[in-house]
Amino acid sequence: MIVLDEVVVRYPGAQRPAVDGASLLVKTGESVALVGPSGSGKTTLLRAINRLVPITSGTILVDGVAVESLQDKALRALRTRLAMIAQHHDLVDRLRVHQNVMAGALGRWSSLHALRYLAFPLRGELDEARNALARVGIAEKLRAPTSALSGGERQRVAIARALVQQPHAILADEPIASLDPELAEQIVALLTTLAKESGIALICSLHQVQFADRYFDQIVRLEGGRLERLKSSVA
Ligand SMILES: Nc1ncnc2c1ncn2[C@@H]1O[C@H](COP(=O)(O)OP(=O)(O)OP(=O)(O)O)[C@@H](O)[C@H]1O
Ligand SMILES: [Mg+2]
Repeated sequence: MIVLDEVVVRYPGAQRPAVDGASLLVKTGESVALVGPSGSGKTTLLRAINRLVPITSGTILVDGVAVESLQDKALRALRTRLAMIAQHHDLVDRLRVHQNVMAGALGRWSSLHALRYLAFPLRGELDEARNALARVGIAEKLRAPTSALSGGERQRVAIARALVQQPHAILADEPIASLDPELAEQIVALLTTLAKESGIALICSLHQVQFADRYFDQIVRLEGGRLERLKSSVA
């Protein structure tokens, strides 16, 4: 569960806070669309949740733990529980698809294990990568070079990598920004369905509200850092 209580983020030297008193409650398996114009604070809010950006005041609780209090090992543990999917997918082009997918396991693997995997992946590990790819509908791309994928396929690989991380929550920052409308809807449907099936909380920023209503339990809108509720969960 993720709880935001009156969260304020002010960047050093900025006149106005980028996030200005945002409160939100996201339960396990629940999905939230975060909409709003460019510069409204969407990325800042998502980055504050896994402490990539420090909060100025307020509280963020992830599974009951205040993220602002975490350091070192506890902070790393928090970040393995929160999978990030970025707007410009950060896949490594010169790796094979399964290698990018299994980068999601880095939080539970030692560096030596990760290096060994790159050279000699074991069958069980490849099965795990294949299963994650099957859940996003592209199991046949297991050994493909990442550089040969389409935009939609790359976004699916980024989602598969997030699943391998076995996260409690997925923070997706405009995961559909570079996709055509039909593909965008497919990816949103996939993300929200996977989150529900696996009991993962999902917060997903989007530029447009179109089709958000069909897929998300909650819709909130940021405008100048202020958060407004457009759709609340029924429960
Ligand atoms: N690292 C930073 N340092 C200072 N100011 C920043 C930083 N990152 C963002 N800002 C400012 O904070 C505000 C919110 O930016 P943010 O990137 O969170 O918006 P956004 O809603 O994600 O926009 P977009 O839709 O364009 O991605 C903007 O005014 C931006 O200029
Ligand atoms: Mg942004």
